[in-house]
Amino acid sequence: MALGRLFHYAFDAVLVSTVLAGVKKTSGFSLDIDQLTTNSTAKSAAESYLGIGDSIYGMIQGSVVNSGYFTNLKK
Ligand SMILES: *[C@@H]1O[C@H](CO)[C@@H](O)[C@H](O)[C@H]1NC(C)=O
Repeated sequence: MALGRLFHYAFDAVLVSTVLAGVKKTSGFSLDIDQLTTNSTAKSAAESYLGIGDSIYGMIQGSVVNSGYFTNLKK
């Protein structure tokens, strides 16, 4: 049970990170980590957390581009 809950939180965290990556890609705005913390340990942790979202967003984008079920509206 505890493991399931942990997995749930991890999944949510990754989901939030992915949305933040999407916001960054579409709007150019990203979390201001410098303003959130001055602690270098926390800063690098936050950067790798956002990096996870970036990779997942990239993977989704890659599979969407190669999928026949999606069409490009920006033609
Ligand atoms: C940053 O936070 C971590 C964990 O709370 C702590 O161990 C570390 O000493 C802090 N580093 C600085 C530079 O304040």
